[in-house]
Amino acid sequence: MKKHIMFAALSVIIFLELGMFVYREYSAEWKTYQATYYEKLAEKMNDPKLAGSPLRVNQIWDKNLNRPDRCVTCHAGIANPAFENEPQPYTTHPDFKDEGFISKHSFEKFGCTICHEGDGQAVTVAATHGVVRHLDRQLLSAPYVQAACTKCHYELYSRDLYWPEADVLMKGKQLAYELGCGACHAIRQFGTDPTAAPDISNLGSKTELAFSLVHDFSQLESEDHITRVWEWEHFKNPRKIVPGNPDAPNPRDRTSPTIMPDWDLTDEEATALTVFVLSLRDPQVENVPRSYLPKVDGHDGFLQYRE
Ligand code: HEC
Ligand code: HEC
Ligand code: HEC
Ligand code: HEC
Repeated sequence: MKKHIMFAALSVIIFLELGMFVYREYSAEWKTYQATYYEKLAEKMNDPKLAGSPLRVNQIWDKNLNRPDRCVTCHAGIANPAFENEPQPYTTHPDFKDEGFISKHSFEKFGCTICHEGDGQAVTVAATHGVVRHLDRQLLSAPYVQAACTKCHYELYSRDLYWPEADVLMKGKQLAYELGCGACHAIRQFGTDPTAAPDISNLGSKTELAFSLVHDFSQLESEDHITRVWEWEHFKNPRKIVPGNPDAPNPRDRTSPTIMPDWDLTDEEATALTVFVLSLRDPQVENVPRSYLPKVDGHDGFLQYRE
């Protein structure tokens, strides 16, 4: 009996030790980044005291949006113009200086993940950057982050509007109009509703899981089995990614390759179209609070979306 108790106690101690070890390992990473930030800041401000600033997990949280974003724990210089030429994660946000577009979206109100997706609560590099298997929404870095603008700026779909701040999305939109995607696909944002091909109006709001359940990744070149990679390769070569099964032994199992045309797109064009299809959002899923939607011609974006 005693032996059992001792064994149990030992197990608990080992478990706690392991927990502490994991905790220390994980917290070490952001602490190193933040400490380096303060060292750089001390040097820039000529104030050595700043180098000893206390380290802590910093978080942006607005009660209306309700997304606790801890990205700034490491990206500590994001709103400091003096960090323009520093390496990541200390760099000032692009377009922050000189009242660029980002200044219309104050970090205190918008945080980061409303545009960048990813896991706002994570405080390790591995848990949010690159491809993270368990995430419903992968981090969007440039230029894919432009797929988030249409959560709020619905007017971006109008054919004549061009926003230089979302150049890649604009290029994708233009291509989509020119190549006639709406002839086969229902795209609510363009007002088209044929049924020859899947409705793609809400594609950008699908989770990775929902997408992976109905898409075959086996033909992909890349090992990153996520939505944006599937879309990109599918644009480059639709019949390679969706070959059908024309030679199945049983005639009833035979399916034709996809009828989606191969336009011989360049890599840039495939990226632009991928950004475009990922920008096609379901407002019900995105559920952006009204107070975050820009006013458009006397309406707010939400009303315009519904009409
Ligand atoms: C633990 C520290 C840490 C946290 C937390 C963190 N980052 Fe980073 N981030 C980095 C580092 C280091 C780099 C540069 C190296 C790299 O690319 O992996 C980087 C690079 C980036 C880049 C550019 C290149 C890329 O990898 O896509 C973006 C965009 C970015 N981070 C956004 C975010 C967002 C958004 C969050 C919050 C959801 C976040 N980061 C949270 C440390 C961090
Ligand atoms: C309104 C949308 C929006 C918000 C909010 C936003 N970003 Fe960005 N972010 C962008 C866009 C767009 C780019 C690419 C700009 C470019 O390429 O010139 C970008 C670029 C970056 C980069 C540079 C790396 C890259 O991919 O080019 C980092 C790092 C980054 N953002 C981190 C953050 C962090 C951290 C926050 C929160 C404090 C944040 N962003 C909030 C839209 C946003
Ligand atoms: C969560 C909603 C939201 C997202 C996502 C968003 N914006 Fe905005 N944006 C706004 C609001 C609200 C304003 C109006 C701010 C004001 O009136 O001062 C605005 C203003 C702007 C403006 C100034 C011009 C104008 O019409 O007012 C530009 C340019 C802009 N956004 C670009 C972008 C880009 C590029 C992206 C994607 C990287 C983006 N926005 C993502 C909400 C958003
Ligand atoms: C001749 C008809 C046709 C045209 C034109 C066409 N597609 Fe398709 N597309 C299809 C069919 C059929 C599928 C379903 C089979 C497949 O995945 O290839 C498809 C699949 C897709 C998918 C995957 C959707 C999903 O949920 O599986 C996307 C995204 C897409 N197309 C975007 C576009 C874009 C953007 C354009 C314009 C550049 C375009 N398509 C033009 C027929 C077409």
